[in-house]
Amino acid sequence: MGAGPHAPLSQKRNDMNHFLDIHKTDANDLRAMIDQAGAMKRARLGRPKAALDEAQPLKDRMVALIFEKPSTRTRVSFDVGVRQMGGQTMVLSGKDMQLGHGETIADTARVLSRYVDMIMIRTFDETILTEMAEYSDVPVINGLTDRTHPCQIMADVLTFEEHRGPIAGKKVVWTGDGNNVCASFLHAAGQFGFDLTFTGPAQFDPEEEFMGFARQKGSQIVVERDPFKAVEGADLVVADTWVSMHDSQSAKERRHNLLRPYQVNTELMSHAKPDALFMHCLPAHREEEATSEVMDGPNSVIFDEAENRLHAQKAVMRWCLGV
Ligand code: CP
Repeated sequence: MGAGPHAPLSQKRNDMNHFLDIHKTDANDLRAMIDQAGAMKRARLGRPKAALDEAQPLKDRMVALIFEKPSTRTRVSFDVGVRQMGGQTMVLSGKDMQLGHGETIADTARVLSRYVDMIMIRTFDETILTEMAEYSDVPVINGLTDRTHPCQIMADVLTFEEHRGPIAGKKVVWTGDGNNVCASFLHAAGQFGFDLTFTGPAQFDPEEEFMGFARQKGSQIVVERDPFKAVEGADLVVADTWVSMHDSQSAKERRHNLLRPYQVNTELMSHAKPDALFMHCLPAHREEEATSEVMDGPNSVIFDEAENRLHAQKAVMRWCLGV
């Protein structure tokens, strides 16, 4: 393919609402998104699943959904969310695009900007996401990188508040691996004003940068090796898979041995507040990071979390497009 005229790289657009990370988004805007998500969800109650939102704020908008990693919830919830708001999607696999065969992120971003109104990307290194946003003329949404997963935590904040009211001032306990989902929970602690205790082996501590952000915002961030001490007084206990998509599978057995004491089971939950919620962003490995007794128990809200990906992301997309 021949090279056509390009806008020079200096003609970058950075004056739009990208949703790249919770700590990079204004706290008032985050609050407004959660409130709008809840309102849109309530407005649809009792209406047929296929019915479109009356306002159809994404009418005539096309959204590209790029996946460089597997997904069930992110893929379906973004696709359904766009359609409910009157827009259309194209779901693209990174490996089937020229992106996966050497075309630069910057060129891909500038080309896609000529076709679509918004880009959601699930990718590996966060520099891929930030470069996409830097060179895109349309808003870019982080659908997960190796470092963070902000859309998941927007759904989790919405879920907590539906069940227990404002999350500000509450105690969240993250168990196991301080991974990319934990990182976004720490960002949310700072932005929404809750405290977070991490309990897991030292090898899996969250990065200091993530904890530092929350602390600097005034949240109490604690690292406690004893899971039973950690969950004392918890309003919410969170588990996630012990081997994430970006982790080497060869290290699986070692990781399991180190993380097994942090399994969320009925005994561990009995040390938290009696009404403590249990969350897991899914997919789960049942009987590993959490038992089915907890996952299917009365305090578990794992499927509300999954549903709320849809509602939270609809609000995120409206904020990105200003509609
Ligand atoms: N929780 C989450 O992001 O799920 P998927 O990997 O299925 O999208």
